[in-house]
Amino acid sequence: MTLFRAALLNPVDAQSWQFFDDGGLLVEDGVVRALGRFDDVIKNYPWDPVKLDGVILPGFADIHIHWVQHAVRGRYAEALLPWLATHIWPEEARYADSALAQRRAQEFFADCLTAGTVMGMSYSSPHPMAARIAHAARRGDWITGNVIMTTNAPADLIAASVKPPADLAFLAEAIGRAHYAITPRFALNCTSEDLAALGAFARDQGLAVQTHLAESMAEVREVARLFPRALDYTDVYDEAGLLGPRTVLGHCLHLSPREWHCLKARGCWIAHCPSSNETLDSGRFDLECARRQQVPFALASDVGAGPSHSMLHVMQRFRRQHEAAGVRVDPEEALFRATLAGARAMGRGGVAGCLDPGRRADFVLMPRGARAQSPQAWFEELLEGSPGELERRPLGTWIAGHRVSTISRGTPSEPALPC
Ligand code: GUN
Ligand code: ZN
Repeated sequence: MTLFRAALLNPVDAQSWQFFDDGGLLVEDGVVRALGRFDDVIKNYPWDPVKLDGVILPGFADIHIHWVQHAVRGRYAEALLPWLATHIWPEEARYADSALAQRRAQEFFADCLTAGTVMGMSYSSPHPMAARIAHAARRGDWITGNVIMTTNAPADLIAASVKPPADLAFLAEAIGRAHYAITPRFALNCTSEDLAALGAFARDQGLAVQTHLAESMAEVREVARLFPRALDYTDVYDEAGLLGPRTVLGHCLHLSPREWHCLKARGCWIAHCPSSNETLDSGRFDLECARRQQVPFALASDVGAGPSHSMLHVMQRFRRQHEAAGVRVDPEEALFRATLAGARAMGRGGVAGCLDPGRRADFVLMPRGARAQSPQAWFEELLEGSPGELERRPLGTWIAGHRVSTISRGTPSEPALPC
């Protein structure tokens, strides 16, 4: 057992958190056993504490990130579709090379740990081997899927893609059902027959599904042209049986009231990607509608459209973007959407995402800051800075109670802990 002593901030819901200025976190076998004021915890567990100078937060969950785009994050074109064709698809074609995939996967997971991200859902390239490499190299708790692209894409990517349903069972088995997501890239890259085969397979096997929905208006118009019988973009996925409580849909920016209603009725999750939406000028997520309709959502970086894998940066953009439009986003909500909500979207709500007793002891140590008078003011200060600064802001990251990265200022992390 280890008893950590530090300030602690623990998300509760979108409106509230628990804060302990002098907190105690007791960890046994990788799991939180007790959390509270240090004086209270030590009464029941009189252990010698490990003192940490800073504020402990739960590790972050990023529920929509393209790990194969990490090396080209921050390259932009005028809009989604030309950006994919110019920067992204040529880059993803390189992941046919397993040695490159191996190197890049190690860099990606090391960078995530340095930034405090301990879990998430990632999109791989179409190559099944690259997805397997990412799974084997993962550090933390990840769900991964090889993007399925059978049409409207460069020939090499189509050739590399799994043709549903062939080989899906093999891949899901090899990666393991808890860590594999059925991943049609988006409607424009699949036929309705492919989508229906993927939907049936996901349902049969109880697998997670992830894809993009209504990110740009040009994409929405193209979907309407290619799927003329569908009511709208959401209906394309719904008809294929792809929508359910294990489905995580990236973006969801241009939806009609009928589509919002459908997502709510199916229990789908939305991956809200504010930094990506801003970068590709895709539009503003209708946060007010998501709140009103109580459609569940969590935050995500969407690297490489998002310029940074730092969830601190994503939270910064989340708050600033909506507040610029006159919609208030409290620090409590930002923390919740970057941690516990993400764990729930992944189906891990009962085991991770916060520091409650019984959860995996995944946490990040943040600097205390100089000026803050309250936890809210401290949190606002924590989110200030450039993407590069925010990527290196955590002082250390722990997974299941073990330190897996120390920062900082470019210091490499300690050896990997398989998880
Ligand atoms: N839509 C289809 N593919 C992608 C992708 O790689 N990134 C983003 N942001 N949107 C997509
Ligand atoms: Zn994406």
